[in-house]
Amino acid sequence: MKIFLNWKQNGSLSLIKNFILDLKPWNPKFEVSLFLPSLYLSYAQDLPETKIQKITISAQNVSSSENGPFTGEIGAEMLSDIKISQCLVGHSERRSLFNETDETIERKIENLLRFNILPILCIGESIVERENNKFLEHIRSQMQIFKKPCILAYEPIWAIGSGITPSIFQITEIADFIYDNLGVKILYGGSVNEQNIKEITQIKNIEGVLVGGASISSEKVNKMLQI
Ligand code: PGA
Repeated sequence: MKIFLNWKQNGSLSLIKNFILDLKPWNPKFEVSLFLPSLYLSYAQDLPETKIQKITISAQNVSSSENGPFTGEIGAEMLSDIKISQCLVGHSERRSLFNETDETIERKIENLLRFNILPILCIGESIVERENNKFLEHIRSQMQIFKKPCILAYEPIWAIGSGITPSIFQITEIADFIYDNLGVKILYGGSVNEQNIKEITQIKNIEGVLVGGASISSEKVNKMLQI
């Protein structure tokens, strides 16, 4: 079961170190990955506890270009240089705040795969699409850029950071829909916490969770890893 922790633009050297030190040993059925701001990746990888606990330090973003005049960007080859093996793409915050399109995201996926970095492609509908019963259509269209071996994360935009989670029925419906179309199990993300993780991870076609807000608290993460 994958427990993916997305710290977004949060953290500091001391927070990362204390967080990793505070984690209690967990059942080996859990695969824990910590998605950090790029500048902390090497630091976190080199902490002895990261290696002992087998935490996969992973990236939150990558440039859609290989290299060149793109000030501030970090390319897939650079991530591969520091031995990063996984990277998020298509997170709804990147799509809405940084105008990322499916075309840009597809280029990111291609760049990552070229350097053997596993992309975690995030998809999910808005509240308007959900209310107008257009969510399956939206998911189907976002699924077009999926290619194996990417991991797919379903994160309804209305559930991210809102404290609202879809019902088990609603998550099951999407997980089954994706499984029927692509043959892969998915991650669920959007207001996952220590209270709802157990029920969510018991859904048949769910292979893990992508946790945002609750992932910065070692206390909450320790509880999540005890289920
Ligand atoms: P959240 O974020 O857990 O705070 O809702 C999830 C995500 O954005 O990946």
